[in-house]
Amino acid sequence: MRSTSLAFLLSAFLCTIGCSDDDGAGETGGAGPTGGTGGAGATSGPGSTTSGSGGAGATSGSGGDAATSTSSTTSGAGGDAATSTSSTTSGTGGSAPAARRVPAASANSLREAGEKANPPILIGAAISGGGLNDNNYKRVAAAEHNYVTAENEMKWDALEPNPGQFSWGAADNIVNWARSNNMKVKGHTLVWHSQLPGWMNSMTGAAQVEQAMRRHIENVMGHFKDRVNHWDVVNEAVLTDSDTGVGNPRMRPTVFFNALGERYLDLAFQIAREQDPTAKLYYNDYSIDARNEKADFVYEMIKGMVERGVPIDGVGLQMHIGPPNNVAGGEDVAYNLRRFADLGLEVLISEMDINRCGNVVSASDQLTYYHDIVEACFVMPECVGITFWGINDGRSWLNTWSTARCNGQSSQSLLFNDQYQKKETYNRVLDALLGR
Ligand code: XIL
Repeated sequence: MRSTSLAFLLSAFLCTIGCSDDDGAGETGGAGPTGGTGGAGATSGPGSTTSGSGGAGATSGSGGDAATSTSSTTSGAGGDAATSTSSTTSGTGGSAPAARRVPAASANSLREAGEKANPPILIGAAISGGGLNDNNYKRVAAAEHNYVTAENEMKWDALEPNPGQFSWGAADNIVNWARSNNMKVKGHTLVWHSQLPGWMNSMTGAAQVEQAMRRHIENVMGHFKDRVNHWDVVNEAVLTDSDTGVGNPRMRPTVFFNALGERYLDLAFQIAREQDPTAKLYYNDYSIDARNEKADFVYEMIKGMVERGVPIDGVGLQMHIGPPNNVAGGEDVAYNLRRFADLGLEVLISEMDINRCGNVVSASDQLTYYHDIVEACFVMPECVGITFWGINDGRSWLNTWSTARCNGQSSQSLLFNDQYQKKETYNRVLDALLGR
Protein backbone atom coordinates (compact mmCIF):
# COMPACT_ATOMS: atom_id res chain seq x y z
CA MET A 1 0.00 0.00 0.00
CA ARG A 2 2.50 2.44 1.19
CA SER A 3 5.03 1.68 -1.49
CA THR A 4 2.45 2.01 -4.23
CA SER A 5 1.51 5.39 -3.05
CA LEU A 6 5.15 6.41 -2.72
CA ALA A 7 5.77 5.25 -6.25
CA PHE A 8 2.74 7.14 -7.31
CA LEU A 9 3.90 10.32 -5.63
CA LEU A 10 7.30 9.92 -7.21
CA SER A 11 5.79 9.61 -10.64
CA ALA A 12 3.61 12.57 -9.86
CA PHE A 13 6.70 14.55 -8.96
CA LEU A 14 8.60 13.46 -12.02
CA CYS A 15 5.67 14.46 -14.03
CA THR A 16 5.86 18.00 -12.79
CA ILE A 17 9.18 18.31 -14.50
CA GLY A 18 7.95 17.39 -17.85
CA CYS A 19 5.28 14.95 -18.83
CA SER A 20 3.59 14.80 -22.04
CA ASP A 21 0.09 15.40 -21.13
CA ASP A 22 -2.93 13.32 -21.34
CA ASP A 23 -4.76 14.49 -18.34
CA GLY A 24 -6.93 16.80 -20.22
CA ALA A 25 -6.02 19.80 -18.18
CA GLY A 26 -5.34 23.07 -19.63
CA GLU A 27 -4.44 22.25 -23.15
CA THR A 28 -7.69 22.80 -24.86
CA GLY A 29 -7.59 26.10 -26.52
CA GLY A 30 -11.24 26.86 -26.72
CA ALA A 31 -13.33 27.77 -23.82
CA GLY A 32 -15.56 24.82 -24.24
CA PRO A 33 -19.22 24.88 -23.63
CA THR A 34 -19.13 27.64 -21.10
CA GLY A 35 -21.85 29.96 -21.92
CA GLY A 36 -20.48 32.36 -19.40
CA THR A 37 -21.08 35.93 -20.06
CA GLY A 38 -19.15 38.20 -22.24
CA GLY A 39 -17.41 35.31 -23.88
CA ALA A 40 -14.57 33.38 -22.48
CA GLY A 41 -11.92 34.54 -24.86
CA ALA A 42 -12.13 38.02 -23.49
CA THR A 43 -9.56 37.20 -20.91
CA SER A 44 -6.57 36.64 -23.11
CA GLY A 45 -3.60 36.74 -20.90
CA PRO A 46 -2.21 34.61 -18.21
CA GLY A 47 -1.71 30.99 -18.53
CA SER A 48 -2.50 30.91 -22.17
CA THR A 49 1.08 29.84 -22.50
CA THR A 50 0.45 26.90 -20.23
CA SER A 51 1.68 24.46 -22.74
CA GLY A 52 0.68 20.88 -22.59
CA SER A 53 -0.14 21.12 -18.90
CA GLY A 54 0.55 17.94 -17.00
CA GLY A 55 3.92 19.53 -16.50
CA ALA A 56 4.10 22.26 -13.99
CA GLY A 57 6.33 25.11 -14.79
CA ALA A 58 4.72 26.15 -17.95
CA THR A 59 2.48 28.68 -16.36
CA SER A 60 4.80 31.43 -17.14
CA GLY A 61 4.23 35.09 -17.07
CA SER A 62 1.11 37.01 -16.72
CA GLY A 63 -0.53 39.64 -18.74
CA GLY A 64 0.24 37.71 -21.86
CA ASP A 65 3.92 38.53 -21.75
CA ALA A 66 5.24 35.04 -21.83
CA ALA A 67 8.80 36.26 -22.22
CA THR A 68 9.10 37.00 -18.54
CA SER A 69 8.58 33.46 -17.44
CA THR A 70 10.98 33.75 -14.60
CA SER A 71 8.53 33.02 -11.87
CA SER A 72 6.55 29.88 -11.38
CA THR A 73 9.43 28.41 -9.41
CA THR A 74 7.60 29.61 -6.38
CA SER A 75 6.99 26.62 -4.19
CA GLY A 76 6.15 28.48 -1.03
CA ALA A 77 3.92 26.46 1.20
CA GLY A 78 2.45 23.25 0.06
CA GLY A 79 5.83 21.72 -0.67
CA ASP A 80 8.14 21.22 -3.48
CA ALA A 81 6.02 19.91 -6.24
CA ALA A 82 6.09 23.05 -8.24
CA THR A 83 9.78 23.59 -8.56
CA SER A 84 9.29 23.75 -12.20
CA THR A 85 12.17 23.65 -14.49
CA SER A 86 11.13 24.79 -17.84
CA SER A 87 8.43 23.98 -20.21
CA THR A 88 10.95 22.96 -22.82
CA THR A 89 11.07 19.44 -21.46
CA SER A 90 7.45 18.81 -22.11
CA GLY A 91 6.67 16.93 -25.18
CA THR A 92 10.04 15.22 -25.37
CA GLY A 93 10.06 11.48 -25.36
CA GLY A 94 7.83 11.67 -22.31
CA SER A 95 8.46 8.30 -20.75
CA ALA A 96 6.92 8.96 -17.34
CA PRO A 97 3.16 8.54 -17.31
CA ALA A 98 1.09 11.61 -16.63
CA ALA A 99 0.20 11.94 -12.97
CA ARG A 100 -3.38 10.87 -12.59
CA ARG A 101 -5.32 9.70 -9.59
CA VAL A 102 -6.18 6.02 -9.84
CA PRO A 103 -9.85 5.23 -9.21
CA ALA A 104 -11.20 2.40 -7.10
CA ALA A 105 -12.46 -0.62 -9.02
CA SER A 106 -15.84 -0.29 -7.37
CA ALA A 107 -17.53 1.52 -4.50
CA ASN A 108 -20.92 1.63 -2.82
CA SER A 109 -20.76 5.28 -1.86
CA LEU A 110 -19.08 8.50 -2.90
CA ARG A 111 -17.12 8.36 0.31
CA GLU A 112 -15.85 4.88 -0.38
CA ALA A 113 -14.88 5.85 -3.92
CA GLY A 114 -12.87 8.73 -2.49
CA GLU A 115 -11.24 6.65 0.21
CA LYS A 116 -10.25 3.84 -2.14
CA ALA A 117 -8.80 6.08 -4.84
CA ASN A 118 -5.03 6.44 -5.02
CA PRO A 119 -4.28 8.94 -3.71
CA PRO A 120 -7.52 9.24 -1.73
CA ILE A 121 -9.70 12.27 -2.22
CA LEU A 122 -12.02 13.83 0.38
CA ILE A 123 -15.72 13.89 -0.44
CA GLY A 124 -17.44 16.65 1.45
CA ALA A 125 -20.76 18.28 2.17
CA ALA A 126 -21.88 21.52 3.74
CA ILE A 127 -23.70 20.50 6.90
CA SER A 128 -26.23 22.64 8.73
CA GLY A 129 -27.21 22.46 12.35
CA GLY A 130 -30.84 22.14 11.26
CA GLY A 131 -30.04 19.17 9.06
CA LEU A 132 -28.54 17.30 11.97
CA ASN A 133 -32.00 17.20 13.58
CA ASP A 134 -33.15 14.99 10.70
CA ASN A 135 -32.15 11.33 10.88
CA ASN A 136 -32.34 10.77 7.13
CA TYR A 137 -30.14 13.75 6.51
CA LYS A 138 -27.60 12.54 9.04
CA ARG A 139 -27.61 9.02 7.64
CA VAL A 140 -26.97 10.11 4.05
CA ALA A 141 -24.48 12.77 5.05
CA ALA A 142 -22.31 10.33 6.97
CA ALA A 143 -22.68 7.40 4.58
CA GLU A 144 -21.66 9.39 1.52
CA HIS A 145 -19.11 11.91 2.78
CA ASN A 146 -15.97 12.05 4.87
CA TYR A 147 -15.41 15.81 4.92
CA VAL A 148 -17.59 18.50 6.49
CA THR A 149 -17.94 22.23 6.09
CA ALA A 150 -20.34 23.95 8.47
CA GLU A 151 -22.78 25.80 6.24
CA ASN A 152 -23.06 28.83 8.54
CA GLU A 153 -22.04 27.88 12.05
CA MET A 154 -18.35 28.75 11.81
CA LYS A 155 -18.79 32.17 10.24
CA TRP A 156 -17.77 35.27 12.14
CA ASP A 157 -21.28 36.35 13.14
CA ALA A 158 -21.98 32.90 14.56
CA LEU A 159 -18.71 32.52 16.46
CA GLU A 160 -17.98 36.05 17.69
CA PRO A 161 -21.30 37.90 17.86
CA ASN A 162 -19.86 40.49 20.24
CA PRO A 163 -16.28 41.76 20.39
CA GLY A 164 -14.12 39.18 22.11
CA GLN A 165 -17.13 37.13 23.17
CA PHE A 166 -17.31 33.73 21.53
CA SER A 167 -20.17 31.35 21.06
CA TRP A 168 -19.10 27.81 20.22
CA GLY A 169 -22.16 25.63 20.77
CA ALA A 170 -23.58 25.27 17.25
CA ALA A 171 -20.16 24.83 15.68
CA ASP A 172 -19.03 22.32 18.31
CA ASN A 173 -22.12 20.31 17.57
CA ILE A 174 -21.26 19.95 13.91
CA VAL A 175 -17.56 19.36 14.51
CA ASN A 176 -18.23 16.69 17.13
CA TRP A 177 -20.83 14.97 14.96
CA ALA A 178 -18.36 14.94 12.06
CA ARG A 179 -15.60 13.48 14.18
CA SER A 180 -17.83 10.81 15.61
CA ASN A 181 -18.49 9.72 12.02
CA ASN A 182 -14.84 9.77 11.07
CA MET A 183 -15.16 12.83 8.93
CA LYS A 184 -12.62 15.63 8.61
CA VAL A 185 -13.73 19.24 9.02
CA LYS A 186 -12.79 22.36 7.08
CA GLY A 187 -13.24 25.52 9.10
CA HIS A 188 -15.25 28.01 7.05
CA THR A 189 -14.37 30.82 7.19
CA LEU A 190 -11.98 33.04 9.14
CA VAL A 191 -11.92 36.29 7.16
CA TRP A 192 -14.86 37.20 4.93
CA HIS A 193 -16.87 40.37 4.28
CA SER A 194 -20.22 38.60 4.57
CA GLN A 195 -21.98 37.28 7.67
CA LEU A 196 -19.82 39.62 9.69
CA PRO A 197 -21.38 41.06 12.83
CA GLY A 198 -22.24 44.76 12.63
CA TRP A 199 -19.63 45.79 15.18
CA MET A 200 -16.89 44.30 12.99
CA ASN A 201 -18.31 45.49 9.73
CA SER A 202 -18.26 49.10 10.87
CA MET A 203 -14.78 49.09 12.36
CA THR A 204 -12.18 51.51 10.99
CA GLY A 205 -8.49 52.09 11.58
CA ALA A 206 -5.66 49.78 10.57
CA ALA A 207 -4.55 48.93 14.09
CA GLN A 208 -8.07 48.18 15.30
CA VAL A 209 -8.98 46.02 12.33
CA GLU A 210 -5.71 44.11 12.47
CA GLN A 211 -6.15 43.49 16.16
CA ALA A 212 -9.73 42.29 15.77
CA MET A 213 -8.77 40.02 12.89
CA ARG A 214 -5.90 38.56 14.90
CA ARG A 215 -8.08 37.99 17.94
CA HIS A 216 -10.71 36.25 15.84
CA ILE A 217 -8.29 33.96 14.00
CA GLU A 218 -6.38 33.07 17.16
CA ASN A 219 -9.43 32.31 19.23
CA VAL A 220 -11.25 30.35 16.57
CA MET A 221 -8.28 28.27 15.49
CA GLY A 222 -7.26 27.85 19.10
CA HIS A 223 -10.69 26.57 20.11
CA PHE A 224 -10.82 23.96 17.34
CA LYS A 225 -7.16 22.99 17.47
CA ASP A 226 -6.68 19.21 17.12
CA ARG A 227 -10.23 18.90 15.77
CA VAL A 228 -10.05 21.12 12.68
CA ASN A 229 -6.90 21.35 10.63
CA HIS A 230 -8.18 22.66 7.31
CA TRP A 231 -9.22 26.32 7.12
CA ASP A 232 -10.68 28.71 4.59
CA VAL A 233 -8.55 31.58 5.81
CA VAL A 234 -9.85 34.21 3.40
CA ASN A 235 -13.06 33.93 1.41
CA GLU A 236 -14.13 35.97 -1.62
CA ALA A 237 -11.59 38.80 -1.54
CA VAL A 238 -12.12 39.69 -5.18
CA LEU A 239 -15.05 41.40 -6.84
CA THR A 240 -16.21 41.87 -10.43
CA ASP A 241 -19.12 43.92 -11.75
CA SER A 242 -21.11 40.74 -12.29
CA ASP A 243 -21.23 37.72 -9.99
CA THR A 244 -20.30 35.67 -13.04
CA GLY A 245 -16.71 36.86 -12.76
CA VAL A 246 -16.86 39.36 -15.60
CA GLY A 247 -16.13 43.09 -15.56
CA ASN A 248 -13.56 45.18 -13.80
CA PRO A 249 -11.93 42.64 -11.48
CA ARG A 250 -10.60 44.27 -8.32
CA MET A 251 -10.01 43.77 -4.63
CA ARG A 252 -13.33 43.82 -2.84
CA PRO A 253 -13.69 46.88 -0.61
CA THR A 254 -14.27 45.17 2.73
CA VAL A 255 -13.63 46.35 6.26
CA PHE A 256 -10.33 44.44 6.05
CA PHE A 257 -9.24 45.82 2.69
CA ASN A 258 -10.32 49.36 3.48
CA ALA A 259 -8.26 49.45 6.65
CA LEU A 260 -5.23 47.38 5.68
CA GLY A 261 -5.06 47.20 1.91
CA GLU A 262 -4.30 44.01 0.05
CA ARG A 263 -1.79 42.97 2.70
CA TYR A 264 -4.65 41.84 4.90
CA LEU A 265 -4.57 38.55 3.02
CA ASP A 266 -0.89 37.94 3.75
CA LEU A 267 -1.49 38.92 7.34
CA ALA A 268 -4.44 36.59 7.78
CA PHE A 269 -2.47 33.64 6.44
CA GLN A 270 0.55 34.53 8.57
CA ILE A 271 -1.54 34.73 11.73
CA ALA A 272 -3.21 31.42 10.87
CA ARG A 273 0.15 29.77 10.29
CA GLU A 274 1.49 31.05 13.63
CA GLN A 275 -1.56 29.62 15.29
CA ASP A 276 -1.23 26.18 13.67
CA PRO A 277 2.02 25.25 11.95
CA THR A 278 0.57 22.16 10.28
CA ALA A 279 -2.96 23.19 9.29
CA LYS A 280 -3.92 23.39 5.63
CA LEU A 281 -4.63 27.03 4.84
CA TYR A 282 -6.85 27.82 1.87
CA TYR A 283 -8.09 30.76 -0.15
CA ASN A 284 -11.66 30.24 -1.38
CA ASP A 285 -13.72 32.03 -4.05
CA TYR A 286 -16.60 31.73 -6.54
CA SER A 287 -16.74 32.17 -10.31
CA ILE A 288 -13.05 31.36 -10.65
CA ASP A 289 -13.88 28.04 -12.27
CA ALA A 290 -14.59 29.42 -15.76
CA ARG A 291 -12.16 31.28 -17.98
CA ASN A 292 -12.96 34.80 -17.06
CA GLU A 293 -11.46 37.99 -15.72
CA LYS A 294 -12.01 37.10 -12.09
CA ALA A 295 -10.22 33.76 -12.44
CA ASP A 296 -7.25 35.51 -14.04
CA PHE A 297 -7.18 38.20 -11.37
CA VAL A 298 -7.36 35.70 -8.52
CA TYR A 299 -4.67 33.61 -10.18
CA GLU A 300 -2.33 36.61 -10.26
CA MET A 301 -3.18 37.50 -6.67
CA ILE A 302 -2.42 33.99 -5.43
CA LYS A 303 0.72 33.76 -7.52
CA GLY A 304 1.94 36.95 -5.88
CA MET A 305 1.27 35.51 -2.44
CA VAL A 306 3.15 32.32 -3.24
CA GLU A 307 6.08 34.35 -4.58
CA ARG A 308 6.15 36.42 -1.40
CA GLY A 309 6.31 33.25 0.68
CA VAL A 310 2.89 33.72 2.24
CA PRO A 311 1.94 30.45 3.96
CA ILE A 312 -0.94 29.40 1.73
CA ASP A 313 -1.50 25.71 0.99
CA GLY A 314 -4.25 25.77 -1.55
CA VAL A 315 -7.14 27.32 -3.40
CA GLY A 316 -10.80 26.30 -3.24
CA LEU A 317 -12.96 26.82 -6.30
CA GLN A 318 -16.47 27.10 -4.88
CA MET A 319 -18.13 25.70 -8.01
CA HIS A 320 -21.58 27.20 -7.64
CA ILE A 321 -22.58 26.62 -11.25
CA GLY A 322 -25.50 28.60 -12.64
CA PRO A 323 -27.26 31.62 -11.16
CA PRO A 324 -26.05 33.76 -9.50
CA ASN A 325 -22.56 32.64 -10.52
CA ASN A 326 -20.99 31.57 -13.76
CA VAL A 327 -21.36 28.43 -15.81
CA ALA A 328 -18.21 26.44 -16.37
CA GLY A 329 -17.58 23.19 -18.15
CA GLY A 330 -15.09 20.46 -17.31
CA GLU A 331 -12.36 21.87 -19.52
CA ASP A 332 -12.60 25.32 -18.01
CA VAL A 333 -12.39 23.88 -14.54
CA ALA A 334 -9.45 21.67 -15.49
CA TYR A 335 -7.64 24.71 -16.84
CA ASN A 336 -8.08 26.68 -13.64
CA LEU A 337 -7.34 23.81 -11.29
CA ARG A 338 -4.19 23.07 -13.25
CA ARG A 339 -2.80 26.58 -13.19
CA PHE A 340 -3.31 26.93 -9.44
CA ALA A 341 -1.77 23.50 -8.86
CA ASP A 342 1.18 24.51 -10.99
CA LEU A 343 1.93 27.17 -8.40
CA GLY A 344 2.70 24.30 -6.03
CA LEU A 345 -0.68 24.47 -4.33
CA GLU A 346 -3.39 22.02 -3.48
CA VAL A 347 -6.73 22.68 -5.12
CA LEU A 348 -10.26 21.81 -4.06
CA ILE A 349 -13.80 22.01 -5.27
CA SER A 350 -15.23 23.52 -2.14
CA GLU A 351 -18.96 24.31 -2.51
CA MET A 352 -20.34 22.54 -5.55
CA ASP A 353 -23.95 22.79 -6.67
CA ILE A 354 -25.50 23.27 -10.11
CA ASN A 355 -28.57 25.46 -10.11
CA ARG A 356 -31.38 24.66 -12.55
CA CYS A 357 -33.39 27.78 -11.75
CA GLY A 358 -33.91 30.21 -14.58
CA ASN A 359 -33.11 27.43 -17.03
CA VAL A 360 -29.61 28.71 -17.46
CA VAL A 361 -28.45 25.10 -17.13
CA SER A 362 -30.58 22.44 -18.80
CA ALA A 363 -31.22 19.08 -17.17
CA SER A 364 -28.87 17.28 -19.50
CA ASP A 365 -26.14 19.93 -19.21
CA GLN A 366 -26.40 19.61 -15.45
CA LEU A 367 -25.54 15.90 -15.71
CA THR A 368 -22.66 16.58 -18.06
CA TYR A 369 -21.27 19.32 -15.84
CA TYR A 370 -21.55 17.20 -12.71
CA HIS A 371 -19.62 14.41 -14.36
CA ASP A 372 -17.01 16.46 -16.16
CA ILE A 373 -16.26 18.91 -13.36
CA VAL A 374 -15.87 16.17 -10.77
CA GLU A 375 -13.67 14.29 -13.22
CA ALA A 376 -11.51 17.37 -13.80
CA CYS A 377 -10.66 17.42 -10.11
CA PHE A 378 -10.56 13.68 -9.59
CA VAL A 379 -7.88 13.00 -12.17
CA MET A 380 -5.49 15.49 -10.56
CA PRO A 381 -3.61 14.21 -7.51
CA GLU A 382 -3.25 17.84 -6.39
CA CYS A 383 -7.04 18.13 -6.13
CA VAL A 384 -7.59 16.98 -2.58
CA GLY A 385 -11.32 17.29 -2.07
CA ILE A 386 -14.74 17.80 -3.59
CA THR A 387 -17.41 19.30 -1.35
CA PHE A 388 -21.08 19.63 -2.32
CA TRP A 389 -22.96 22.57 -0.88
CA GLY A 390 -25.65 20.63 0.91
CA ILE A 391 -27.20 17.18 0.84
CA ASN A 392 -30.71 17.38 -0.60
CA ASP A 393 -32.40 19.80 -2.97
CA GLY A 394 -35.03 20.91 -0.49
CA ARG A 395 -32.46 22.36 1.85
CA SER A 396 -30.32 24.08 -0.78
CA TRP A 397 -29.43 27.68 0.00
CA LEU A 398 -30.18 28.54 -3.63
CA ASN A 399 -33.92 27.98 -3.18
CA THR A 400 -34.22 31.24 -1.31
CA TRP A 401 -31.10 33.15 -2.31
CA SER A 402 -32.34 36.35 -3.89
CA THR A 403 -30.15 36.31 -7.00
CA ALA A 404 -30.39 32.57 -7.63
CA ARG A 405 -33.64 32.96 -9.56
CA CYS A 406 -35.45 30.19 -7.66
CA ASN A 407 -37.89 32.37 -5.69
CA GLY A 408 -38.60 29.64 -3.21
CA GLN A 409 -38.77 26.84 -5.78
CA SER A 410 -36.34 23.95 -5.64
CA SER A 411 -33.00 24.67 -7.27
CA GLN A 412 -32.71 20.94 -8.09
CA SER A 413 -29.04 21.56 -7.62
CA LEU A 414 -27.75 18.65 -5.56
CA LEU A 415 -27.32 14.86 -5.56
CA PHE A 416 -30.32 13.78 -3.43
CA ASN A 417 -34.01 14.57 -3.68
CA ASP A 418 -36.21 15.50 -0.77
CA GLN A 419 -36.82 11.86 0.11
CA TYR A 420 -33.04 11.46 0.25
CA GLN A 421 -33.05 9.24 -2.80
CA LYS A 422 -30.10 9.36 -5.14
CA LYS A 423 -30.69 11.43 -8.26
CA GLU A 424 -29.14 10.93 -11.66
CA THR A 425 -26.67 13.66 -10.67
CA TYR A 426 -25.41 11.30 -7.96
CA ASN A 427 -24.82 8.55 -10.50
CA ARG A 428 -22.84 10.85 -12.75
CA VAL A 429 -20.67 11.98 -9.85
CA LEU A 430 -20.03 8.38 -8.77
CA ASP A 431 -19.14 7.50 -12.37
CA ALA A 432 -16.54 10.26 -12.43
CA LEU A 433 -15.08 9.11 -9.10
CA LEU A 434 -14.74 5.59 -10.47
CA GLY A 435 -13.06 6.73 -13.65
CA ARG A 436 -16.07 5.96 -15.82
C1 XIL B 1 -24.34 30.46 2.22
C2 XIL B 1 -25.23 29.54 3.05
O1 XIL B 1 -25.42 28.34 2.35
C3 XIL B 1 -26.54 30.19 3.35
O2 XIL B 1 -27.30 29.40 4.23
C4 XIL B 1 -26.32 31.58 3.93
O3 XIL B 1 -27.57 32.23 4.06
C5 XIL B 1 -25.43 32.40 3.06
O4 XIL B 1 -24.22 31.71 2.83
N1 XIL B 1 -20.22 31.16 -0.65
C6 XIL B 1 -19.81 30.77 0.60
C7 XIL B 1 -20.76 30.15 1.53
O5 XIL B 1 -18.60 30.83 0.88
O6 XIL B 1 -20.45 30.42 2.87
C8 XIL B 1 -22.18 30.60 1.23
O7 XIL B 1 -23.06 29.89 2.09
C9 XIL B 1 -22.50 30.36 -0.22
C10 XIL B 1 -21.59 31.16 -1.11
